[in-house]
This record gives sequence, C-alpha cells and structure tokens, in this order.
Amino acid sequence: MKRGVITGVGSYLPRRVMLNAELPASLDTSDAWIVERTGIRQRHLAADDERTSDLGAAAARAALSDAGLTPEAIDLIVVGTTTPDETMPATATRIQHKLGMQRAPAMDVNAACSGFVYALTVADSLLRCGRATRALVIGAETYSRILNWEDRGTCILFGDGAGAVVLEAAEESEAAGRGMLYAHIDAEGRYGDLLATTGGVSATKEAGTLTMQGREIFRHAVAKMSESLEAGLYALRLRAEDIDWLVPHQANWRILASVAQRVGIPESRVVSTVALHANTSAASIPLALAAAKADGRLKTGQLVALAALGAGLTWGSCIIRW
Ligand code: UT7
Repeated sequence: MKRGVITGVGSYLPRRVMLNAELPASLDTSDAWIVERTGIRQRHLAADDERTSDLGAAAARAALSDAGLTPEAIDLIVVGTTTPDETMPATATRIQHKLGMQRAPAMDVNAACSGFVYALTVADSLLRCGRATRALVIGAETYSRILNWEDRGTCILFGDGAGAVVLEAAEESEAAGRGMLYAHIDAEGRYGDLLATTGGVSATKEAGTLTMQGREIFRHAVAKMSESLEAGLYALRLRAEDIDWLVPHQANWRILASVAQRVGIPESRVVSTVALHANTSAASIPLALAAAKADGRLKTGQLVALAALGAGLTWGSCIIRW
C-alpha cells in the first residue's frame, strides 16, 4: 500500500499589507472590535495585476525548492481555490504553465475554505491508487476580488495568499510511519446559502460578492471541525494529547480556540496565522504549515492534524505523520 508523504512546503503573500486601521472609515468598525472578536490584525492584498495563479505558482516554486525538486518531477497538480483566474481554464493549468511544465493532469477543487483539505485528500487518493507519484497541492486565493467593501460583517475577515505542499507517494512499509494517516471530507448542501456569493456564471454571469451569516457559520465550524477531528483520532486509536500540532483553517481565532478546547488540544499546540494573514480560505492551512515549518515548530515524525469548514457547507480533516 502507498500513501502520500509531504516532502516540501511553501507559501507566498502579496506585498501589500492592509492593517485594520486602514479599512474604509465608512465601515463603522474598529481595530479593537476586529482584534477582540476575530484575532485579525492585518491582511495581504494582491496587486491589480496579480492573479490567483501568480500567487499559487510562487507558493509552488517555494514548496518545490523545499522538497529539493524541479517542476519536471511533478505528475499531478490539484489547486484548492474559489477565486480562479477565469471560469476556464482551471487555475491549476495556468499554474502548470507558469511553472514551465509541459504535461501533468491539473485540476481545481472548489470547496471554498475546506479547499486545501479537499485537494490534499484528492491528491493523496490518486497517489494511493498509483495514478500519480508526486503531486503539487496548492491553496491559492484572491478573496479581495469578491468582497463587498461596504459589509463590515465580511470584508474585515478575508485576505489574499497562497500555500503549497509537495506530496510524494511512498510505500507504507518504507515511509517510517510518515504520511497521510487519515483523511475525511464531507458536505451538506442544504446549508449552501449561509455562505455564498451574490452571483456566478450560470446565475448572473458575474462573480458576485461574498455574503455570510457569520454566527451560524461560526457554530457549524466549531461543531463540524471538532467532530471530524474526533472521528480521525478514534479511527487511528489516538488521543488528543498525541497531536503535536493542530493546524486548522484560519477563519477566526475564537473558532480555532473553541475547536482545540472541544477536542482537548492545548492552545499552545495550535498553529495560528490568522492575526497576520486573516482568512485566506483554501490558502490558510498551507500558509500556516509553511509558517510553522519556517520557524522550526514542525519537525519530522510529529503528528499534525488539519481541519476546515467552508461554504457548501463543506468540511473535513486530515491527520498526518510529518
Ligand atoms: O472560513 C469559514 C467562513 N467564515 C467563518 O468561519 C467566520 C465565522 N463567523 C465569525 O467569525 C463571526 O461570526 C464574525 C466575526 C463574522 C462576527 O462575530 P460575532 O461575534 O459572531 O458577532 P455578531 O455577528 O454576533 O455581531 C455582534 C455585533 C452586532 O451588533 P448588534 O446587533 O449586537 O448591535 C454586529 O452588527 O457586532 C456587530 N458587528 C460589528 N461591529 C463592529 C459585526 N461586524 C462588526 C464589525 N465591527 N466589523
């Protein structure tokens, strides 16, 4: 049996940083409210000429360099994104071309803020059944393009960025216990209107802007991310104290803390980048992984748990031996 092992991580953040204090004065919000209710202090914003594929390609290059590989070694690209460059082709194919690659299957996965957990699960499944050997799994987003900058309930929460990992197939017997041990993805479409855009190709011919019933999403996020993680721990016969790092989707520090508390993981073992990056949707988990690897927290052999919830509603979790 084979499974995916993460051998490289990389990220990219646009240069422009917007502090809470720089949000439009007309919003009737404050730095104090945003920090207290979300933990967010700033977000990065893509330049006008920067596309999701530019962010994704930069993160992918960093992940390849971390893995010591060149793009030619990759035979699968899966991109989690809800803010593609265009309706078609897939942003994954744009990234493939920007990396200078000639051939390899390349697809986008739209699971909104669960996009990275979904993309990682899809890639790991293809590696397990032998359809690919080395995948780039990328989360890349430019949410600033779909925000209603007059809605204080949403525009304060999001930012742009990208993160990527290299996932390599390894025989379980030779992986020294490393790799994807558990993956769970799920969705419940009846909650689709809780977090959605006001438009779309088929509905209005325009992308629309993001709307959200924040309190409801908060409740679902805590419950479903916790349940998914607990199911993973149970399936692997692990206890919460076995987890070295919980790296959840970075939506709101209060959600991260509540999930950690419910599952029984101390806050000191939660990797959080929400203060600096805000919510970058599918990019938030690989951005946090890259930050934790860069500062030396993430070490080979540790147990890492990922969990996310996003529009759909979609949600899921992964447990990985790093
Ligand atoms: O990535 C997955 C998708 N997103 C999420 O996971 C986000 C989930 N939701 C949340 O993070 C939180 O629900 C929010 C941060 C969106 C809102 O925080 P909350 O603590 O749930 O606030 P609330 O919606 O219950 O609103 C409390 C008050 C309201 O005023 P009233 O009705 O009590 O007078 C809001 O109008 O805070 C007001 N409010 C604000 N005040 C200042 C809402 N947004 C703001 C704001 N600045 N930006």
